[in-house]
Amino acid sequence: MEQHKRTALCGALRRADTGKTVTLNGWVNRRRDHGGIIFINLRDRYGITQAVIDQDAPAELAALAAELRNEYCIAVEGVVRPRPDSMVNPGMATGEIEVAVKHLVILNRCQVLPFQIEDETGAGEDLRLSYRYLDLRSAGMQRRIKLRNDVSFAVREWMSSQGFYEIETPTFIRSTPEGARDYLVPSRLYPGKFYALPQSPQIYKQLLMVSGFDKYFQIARCYRDEDARGDRQPEFSQIDIEMSFVSRDDVLSMTEGLMGHVFKQTLGVELPLRFRRLSYEEAMETYGTDKPDLRFDLPLSDFAPYAGAGSFQAFKDALAAGGAVKALVVPKALMKTPYSRKQIEELENHAKIYKARGLAWMRVAEDGAENGSEDGAALEGGVSKFFTGEAAAAIVKALGAKPGDLILIAAGEKRKIVNTALGAVRGKLGKDLGLITAPGTGGRIPGPFEFVWILDFPLFEYNEEERRWEAAHHMFSYPQDQYHGTMEQDPGSVKGDLYDLVLNGYELASGSIRIHDPALQKRVFSIVGIGEEEAEAKFGFLTGAFTYGAPPHGGIAPGLDRLVMLMAGETSIKEVIAFPKNSFAASPMDGAPGEVDQNQLDELRLAVLRPEKP
Ligand code: AMO
Repeated sequence: MEQHKRTALCGALRRADTGKTVTLNGWVNRRRDHGGIIFINLRDRYGITQAVIDQDAPAELAALAAELRNEYCIAVEGVVRPRPDSMVNPGMATGEIEVAVKHLVILNRCQVLPFQIEDETGAGEDLRLSYRYLDLRSAGMQRRIKLRNDVSFAVREWMSSQGFYEIETPTFIRSTPEGARDYLVPSRLYPGKFYALPQSPQIYKQLLMVSGFDKYFQIARCYRDEDARGDRQPEFSQIDIEMSFVSRDDVLSMTEGLMGHVFKQTLGVELPLRFRRLSYEEAMETYGTDKPDLRFDLPLSDFAPYAGAGSFQAFKDALAAGGAVKALVVPKALMKTPYSRKQIEELENHAKIYKARGLAWMRVAEDGAENGSEDGAALEGGVSKFFTGEAAAAIVKALGAKPGDLILIAAGEKRKIVNTALGAVRGKLGKDLGLITAPGTGGRIPGPFEFVWILDFPLFEYNEEERRWEAAHHMFSYPQDQYHGTMEQDPGSVKGDLYDLVLNGYELASGSIRIHDPALQKRVFSIVGIGEEEAEAKFGFLTGAFTYGAPPHGGIAPGLDRLVMLMAGETSIKEVIAFPKNSFAASPMDGAPGEVDQNQLDELRLAVLRPEKP
């Protein structure tokens, strides 16, 4: 190999290198035979260079070049020369030059490819994942893996510059409930006992605060056995952060600084110094979700004040039952043509997925139609017959609706369902009306990036099925001071010092100020149904540590995969992970999860109850 070793990279050569003799190593991206003159696009991680075997090349060289197929790994030695003017390719970094090949060596042949290695391959997911090592050769995957590398580097650069230590925490831990199911690892030395893989380093990072490492971070691998989604993987990475002696706003501004640095360094994008902030309640009321996509507006409005003025019974019933009636105005200007009944029905079906009973609608008349008031604002279609005259005019005015606008209304006994369903309709409209610009650009055009903090989450959520309160985030989050007196009486009203960072409709990060007082921690355990004994058995080491002068502390954990996914303009985190699992938590490439030998099971003293064959 020594004499074929590269002296230049495939993205490096320019006109100024004319006359140099170079050796390039790489893969045949494409070979074109133009009647005796052969062009090879030679590719490595850094780019593509055109290598040419001229018509008058020795027969031996021409014969070897004729053998080349896509993805052969080769070495070429030749002289850099300018391309003829007509062949200059301004779209290619090396487009002004080519290498006139003098020697060609086939380092390794490539068998017939399972799919063409292209940016937009038509290959299905399992085929791509079965041959991930080939899929990773595509320009898109190479670009995204580089972005991931650059993001990780920028994270470390920033955290280190701010005085954070990167500290590793164990990945074999004791199983502690954290929301999802644990992945378990059986212990050979303690038959019948198991390690759990951490769902996050949460407890360890809190213990590091007790130890006095007041600024900790780690790019940490986390494991959760939960149902797959585009933005979820069974193993993923968090930029895990914890700080002592901080208030909520310290954590928020540190995170804003981190994001600002990462986006500037990797994409050259300047983010605002401070991100927008919404309380959980505002987000739910205005956007119907705690993960609002603020790349477009379309806010929800309260329709309750007008429900009484009309004669539509369903709205009145919802309010009488303590529920809500909410409206969403779709401006005419955003719709190419007025929405048809069929399109409205589609929106209604979408709302029903989120448990809405239905979706009422009406339209602001283009001209003061027959049922309008003196000032001419009138409603037509759908449920408009229940809102005539003054009521119609008041609605149009209050909602700020214009002629031709579509008004969608959801009503129900449960406020959260009404908001969530209408929020889902809002999300669908954002996509359908083309208000969302980033996805589909393949990351070539970065942005827009709309960050928003969601604050003041409820600390507890009621689990209707199990009829008990549970932690909305995790059990270590601090209940805001004003609720300490009444927590047990009214858990539903307690707000926590919890925050989520949302980017373009995705939850990018979650965090909180933590409880550091063992007595307060016990009260929270007790509200979520963890008695003293169980708390002692499961979390005794943490609550015990808190009795040794634990400092006030808080933290956050942005998901690294989600961050890179959004920066790359993708909608699946698999696109930014080198070797992800498929949608069924399996790896078609190496066959994980796989069976193990009987003697391995015996050593672990495990027996497997095999599922009955169908
Ligand atoms: P949380 O469970 O909200 O908080 O997770 C924090 C962030 O991690 C990312 N994330 C995931 N990414 C890919 N696949 C998954 N299955 C997955 N699950 C979560 C998301 C999410 O916002 N210990 C707390 C953090 C803290 O309080 O400091 C925690 O893990 O981007």
